[in-house]
Amino acid sequence: MDMVRLDPPAELTMPIGEAMFSQRATRRLDPDRPVTDAQLEIILNAASKAPNGGNTQPARYLVIRERDAINEFGKLYFEAWWAKRRDAYGWSSKADIPEDSPYRLAALLADEMVNAPAVILVYSESSGVAASSTFPGVQNLLLAARALGLGSVLTTLHAEVMERVNAMFGVPEEMVFHCCIPLGYPRGKFGPTSRLPTSATTSWDRWGQTPPWK
Ligand SMILES: Cc1cc2nc3c(=O)[nH]c(=O)nc-3n(C[C@H](O)[C@H](O)[C@H](O)COP(=O)(O)O)c2cc1C
Repeated sequence: MDMVRLDPPAELTMPIGEAMFSQRATRRLDPDRPVTDAQLEIILNAASKAPNGGNTQPARYLVIRERDAINEFGKLYFEAWWAKRRDAYGWSSKADIPEDSPYRLAALLADEMVNAPAVILVYSESSGVAASSTFPGVQNLLLAARALGLGSVLTTLHAEVMERVNAMFGVPEEMVFHCCIPLGYPRGKFGPTSRLPTSATTSWDRWGQTPPWK
């Protein structure tokens, strides 16, 4: 297959620091503000530029735009999300989720997936190193979306729905599914993210030695 050289799109002007430090999981998306083909092209071009083992580029993307298809997919996502929580914690409804659990927010996405104006399903061509060669592209995709003012959230599915999802979109059996990403303009405001300090997650020269910052 011919390779192409891509120049940086003029639309991606947000400073990289702003994009990285303001990108976050956006679960409430506006169903009435479409994501354009041009935006999706920029986002997928950005994903294609990411590092990957031996430049073998195993990642493949399925973009879902049709409202009916997103509605159907949203129902399967809802089923998958609850199947995962059932397997892991025995939960079957929101009342089972502890008040302080981050899964309260994630449960919102199970309801909200149907409202996404676009959903990207990320696959790769083979197993092995395919995941590590796919997720750098996913991160580029999320940052490019952020730079265009679009919200997104990385999420997964569950084995219970995989066959039905693949059948719905004619995905060949040999494709390996990695994650799905709803995209759209955010509904409502989103505050900053919070993370562990890097002084707590980083060792300096020797495991357990702290870096020279607090
Ligand atoms: C592998 C993976 C799986 C995730 N699964 C879900 C999910 O099922 N539902 C969801 O709402 N968010 C999901 N997320 C998003 C995380 O919850 C989110 O990135 C994290 O809470 C940080 O959010 P913030 O950047 O807004 O602070 C997932 C993220 C990753 C990397």
